[in-house]
Amino acid sequence: MIRGLFFISLLIQVTLAQKPAAAPSPKKWLTLNGNEPLVIARGGLSGLFPESSEYATKMAMDTSVSNVVMLCSLQLTKDGIGICQSNIKLDNSTNIALVFPKASKTYNVNGQQVHGWFAVDYTSQQLSDNVTLVQNVFSRPSSFDGLLPISGVEDVVGAKPPQVWLNVQYEKFYTEHKLSVVDYVVKAMNTMSYISSPEIGFLKTMSGKVNKVKTKLIFVFLEPDAVEPTTNKKYSAILNDLASIKSFATGILVPKEYIWPVDANKYLEPATTLVADAHKQSLEVYASGFANDYFASYNYSYDPTAEYLQFIDNSQFAVDGVVTDFPPTASEAIACLAMNNGSKPTKGNALIITHNGASGIYPPCTDLAYQQAVDDGADIIDCSVQMSKDGVAFCLDSPDLMGGTTAMTSFISRATSIPEIQQNNGIFSFDLTWSEIQTLKPEMISPFGTNAGMQRNPANKNAGKLMTLAEFLEFAKTKAVSGILINIEYAAYLASNKGLSVVDAVTAALSNATLDQQSTQQVLIQSDDSSVLSKFANVPTYKRVLHLKEEISDAPKQPVDELKKYANAVTVPRPSIITIDGGFATSKTNIVKELHAANISVYASVMRNEFVAIAYDLFSDPMVELATYIAGMEVDGVVTEYPGTASKYMRSPCSNLDANLPYFILPAEPGQLLNLVPAEVMPPAAAPSPALDVADVVDPPLPALANKSDTTNPADVAPPPRSSGMVFVANVGMSLLTIMVLSLLSLGY
Ligand SMILES: *[C@@H]1O[C@H](CO)[C@@H](O)[C@H](O)[C@H]1NC(C)=O
Ligand SMILES: *[C@@H]1O[C@H](CO)[C@@H](O)[C@H](O)[C@H]1NC(C)=O
Ligand SMILES: *[C@@H]1O[C@H](CO)[C@@H](O)[C@H](O)[C@H]1NC(C)=O
Ligand SMILES: *[C@@H]1O[C@H](CO)[C@@H](O)[C@H](O)[C@H]1NC(C)=O
Ligand SMILES: *[C@@H]1O[C@H](CO)[C@@H](O)[C@H](O)[C@H]1NC(C)=O
Ligand SMILES: *[C@@H]1O[C@H](CO)[C@@H](O)[C@H](O)[C@H]1NC(C)=O
Ligand SMILES: *[C@@H]1O[C@H](CO)[C@@H](O)[C@H](O)[C@H]1NC(C)=O
Repeated sequence: MIRGLFFISLLIQVTLAQKPAAAPSPKKWLTLNGNEPLVIARGGLSGLFPESSEYATKMAMDTSVSNVVMLCSLQLTKDGIGICQSNIKLDNSTNIALVFPKASKTYNVNGQQVHGWFAVDYTSQQLSDNVTLVQNVFSRPSSFDGLLPISGVEDVVGAKPPQVWLNVQYEKFYTEHKLSVVDYVVKAMNTMSYISSPEIGFLKTMSGKVNKVKTKLIFVFLEPDAVEPTTNKKYSAILNDLASIKSFATGILVPKEYIWPVDANKYLEPATTLVADAHKQSLEVYASGFANDYFASYNYSYDPTAEYLQFIDNSQFAVDGVVTDFPPTASEAIACLAMNNGSKPTKGNALIITHNGASGIYPPCTDLAYQQAVDDGADIIDCSVQMSKDGVAFCLDSPDLMGGTTAMTSFISRATSIPEIQQNNGIFSFDLTWSEIQTLKPEMISPFGTNAGMQRNPANKNAGKLMTLAEFLEFAKTKAVSGILINIEYAAYLASNKGLSVVDAVTAALSNATLDQQSTQQVLIQSDDSSVLSKFANVPTYKRVLHLKEEISDAPKQPVDELKKYANAVTVPRPSIITIDGGFATSKTNIVKELHAANISVYASVMRNEFVAIAYDLFSDPMVELATYIAGMEVDGVVTEYPGTASKYMRSPCSNLDANLPYFILPAEPGQLLNLVPAEVMPPAAAPSPALDVADVVDPPLPALANKSDTTNPADVAPPPRSSGMVFVANVGMSLLTIMVLSLLSLGY
């Protein structure tokens, strides 16, 4: 029913031959039956497309493990037809309120007065002829709204997913409306592998009717304080009597917090004993509520696969399945990442290069951020070199101490405007002595803001200490990293205005650390200024990296030939490789191929786990983004603030698309998803970025070092007036601006 299926071609190019799996090393799962946990797709790939729509169902099947379960939440129409919608009200997920503007109703639903539009008031014909689905979660694309009809249970079954799970939440309500859910489910049950419900009466009825070999009955726990309609007991009370559940169900489905509770500060507490207790009763345990774009806990560092692993790959227990809006991500965790410690210690060739150390987890450029990066498997740790007034070179992302340290609280009087460096005022490292800088505390940077769900690890707010360049080099030499990247900016400004030579400081430090000689560790010198790179040409073991900070769309031969004179590699913003428009990956550029033809390596910058930084086509999934750049676009390295995530991907067997495996982490194909979006709702195409130009590559020679006593520090000459009101305004204004600029910058890179 509900309008015929129209075939859509695969959105992801799965042209790899499906080879039979090589005998995989047997994995011993801590699930009840020892098998791998199930991926249960709530409404298909509902993290991208409207729930249970044709696109959501097909896409979930194309991108998930081969035994994926499609979960449909049953609602009934006036004529007794089953449709798949989680919410008993249709106004949240369809355009029904626009189609029938005066037809809303208020009904008693299990004791609550609920106002809205209900399926029981419409025939299936009325719905299929008039109503279309919309995306009801604001972080998900609305581009597919109004395109697709509500799916019936038969549509989902008709798409032939490996298994179907029917969730029946409102048996009591529909019975009150003279519709028999039991009759409906009895007719449908031979196509169902699972039938679940939060209503004990319904499950007891079904228990006498289903073929238990074919269909499992699962009891659903709602929030602890909600009341179960048959017994009038709270779900929290029923939890204490798991043994009684065994008489009518083979398993339970619980919100994930029942297993791993989260405290008020959004950190994970120790696990409850629920899984072990239920397994002791021979009850399977399924957990729900997984989605890449909902914040779960800081413990996961915005890596959604980390959360699944917490549930399936801890040493104590594994749940028997996870209910998710993003089935490809759950599939990766189960098929590729779980229990493969030590199974693939080597990784592919692409370099994992940090951006200020593991700055997603600790304050950027601190000893702790670098140690975390080493522990997480980074290949190259990076130091962006800044200079103090007294000539001490140290590591920090920016010469402006306002981002990344507590300078605002103690040195606001040193704030100055330096348009050559940035538009807004700053407290610059070269205006403070190293001993002054050492009094500052490092600060966590949250590039996407500090709102709930965007802030980075508040528990590490001021953890760690900054390192001098010399300390950084000594640290790196004792660690198992394959190399270091030294990033140099503003060398010309520092020479002519401050009498400071950052080039000399770096040269001396590398020499003192004997890294200018043959070493097992590689030294990458990066700058946005090719004249700086020229200064390091005399040491052939250094790899010189030109940082092309502006997006480019092409790399023609002439500028590339010029580039070759200065650099062996480039670092480019991610959109120079895959263009992004309106949150979608729109196309691939040729720059990786063009630069490879000239033997120039390409590093993509900056990878961040937060879902807002990742295009919809990549499923808001950092693993898919890594696959797309590394396996798909063949970059030579990724610059990342979460080296642990990159390392997990690179060390997973599924990152090798030539391996003999049943499942891979597949690169997305830019532009394919947009084919599904009608032209009239496409965002107007943005002007393409310019091609690389010779002028982007060639920089003026570095100026001579100014006589230090001639350079003036405006803060020394004229301290700003200390009228408290003014200072306060400036203070607040600058911090907001800093945050705004930071987040604008981070989106592009
Ligand atoms: C809804 O569809 C029916 C046909 O099934 C049609 O008669 C009716 O006019 C439509 N209603 C609206 C509001 O468009
Ligand atoms: C739909 O419902 C959810 C959950 O109740 C809510 O968070 C969301 O904002 C709603 N969406 C719309 C478009 O009203
Ligand atoms: C979560 O992180 C916090 C803070 O780092 C830590 O104290 C806690 O033990 C972690 N929880 C789990 C379950 O690992
Ligand atoms: C690998 O996993 C096994 C089983 O979970 C565990 O015993 C072992 O300590 C792990 N090894 C490492 C290196 O993490
Ligand atoms: C030179 O290297 C030694 C260790 O080999 C270190 O202790 C010292 O601080 C370094 N000096 C400079 C100026 O970098
Ligand atoms: C490419 O560059 C590397 C150094 O980055 C060099 O060792 C190699 O010989 C070059 N290959 C060609 C074909 O130019
Ligand atoms: C720097 O300035 C001082 C005094 O202003 C002068 O004595 C010295 O010769 C100058 N040095 C250079 C290299 O210009």
